Parts: sequence; C-alpha cells; structure tokens
Amino acid sequence: MREPKLLVDSISLVPGAVRAGAACGVVGKAIESGLIGLRTHQLRDYTGGSPHPVDDHPYGGGPGMVMRPEPVYAAVEELSAARRHDRRILLTPQGRRFDQAAARRLASVGSMLIFCGRYEGVDERVRGLFDEELSIGDYVLSGGEAAAVVLVDAVSRLVPGVLGSPESLGDESFGQGLLEYPQYTRPETFRGHSVPGVLLSGDHARIEQWRREQAQQRTRERRPDMLAKERHD
Ligand code: 6GU
Repeated sequence: MREPKLLVDSISLVPGAVRAGAACGVVGKAIESGLIGLRTHQLRDYTGGSPHPVDDHPYGGGPGMVMRPEPVYAAVEELSAARRHDRRILLTPQGRRFDQAAARRLASVGSMLIFCGRYEGVDERVRGLFDEELSIGDYVLSGGEAAAVVLVDAVSRLVPGVLGSPESLGDESFGQGLLEYPQYTRPETFRGHSVPGVLLSGDHARIEQWRREQAQQRTRERRPDMLAKERHD
C-alpha cells in the first residue's frame, strides 16, 4: 500500500454507511489502491467502557435526542492525537454550505477528520473541537453519513491521480463558475436529433466559443445566482 495523498477519518454511529457509500466507482478504486485513505470509526466505541448511551434527552425539554459530548470528545481527541489532521470538520445542517470551492480547498489538505451528527444534533459544547462546520444543502438528513459520502467523493476526485484524465476537471460544471456545456457522443443522429454541426467541424476555436456561449446561456437559464459570482481567472 502506498502513502495516501488524502487521509480521511470519519466518526459516526453508522460507519458502514460511509464505507459503503464511498466504495464504488473511481473513488472506491482510489481507496482500494491506497491513494485515498478512508477510515471509518464507530462513535459507540468511545464511551470508555461506561454503559452510558451516546445520546440523551435535551435539557429544557423538547422532542428527540441529543448526542452527548463525552464520546464525541473522546473519539475526536483520541483520533486527532494519533493523526494530527489538517482539518477537523463537523457535518451539520447548520454548517456553511459545502461547494466546489470548499472541495478544492479540502483536496489540498493531507488529512481530515469528519464527524457525522445524528438525532436532533450534538451537544453545543463539542463545537470547539472543530475547525469548521459544513452542510451539503438546505434540507435535513437523518444523519451526516450521506453528507460524509458526498464530501469524500467531491474532494477525492480532485486529488491528483484519482480520475483517469485530469483535463476533465477543467471544463466541468462549477469549474469556471458556470454549468457545463452540452455534451454529445455517437451516434451522430439519435431518434431524429442530430449533434450540433459545429462539434463535427474540427474547428477548435469555433467549438470552444460555442461551448463557452452554451455554458453561459445554460447557467443564465438554470442558475442565474451563479453568474453573480462567476470567476474571471
Ligand atoms: Cl451535514 N447533516 C445532516 N444531518 N443533514 C444535512 C446535512 C448534514 N447537510 C444538509 N442536511
């Protein structure tokens, strides 16, 4: 096994969901080959042998359960003492929105620890353990494990060597602050719909210009919010 270019430790109550979710496709291959290291940890293993459950009722009353601070502290402290992660991340719907810029930023760290919450949330006093809090969107998941899979996938595919052809990263949606232009492959005519002639012209300058226009038009129609923050580099 080679030294991984990115090491991820994930702590949650359903570690199998993170492992299974990341096991497929190019990211799964990168984990198999050792290019990405993914270690999934069970929070229940950090109760220090005490019979206390990992969750309890909220002070002040109200529905649902809250994750107790002791096992969260024990797990994060033990794992980060051993591995000194560059980034410690709490996954919560209250976090800052995870986007492509955050994925790029995290792809250049060597190691990260991610903690997936469940129930109504975590005890407020664990927040100081983390460098940042991330959410994957404006909806509520029953647990952070699916968010961890999203994060591991989006970050890992940016790590050099994970994708077959690194050029494919340049043009894809969000890469330039725009949605991707329309793509076609064979056959030239499918159910009466032909590939735009410009793509068959062999004129690379015209193709590039067409793609740029299409990307802008598509973004204007579908995601006008993105144009307000388009990158110009
Ligand atoms: Cl990171 N966790 C949970 N439980 N729900 C979410 C989320 C995270 N991001 C969006 N919804």
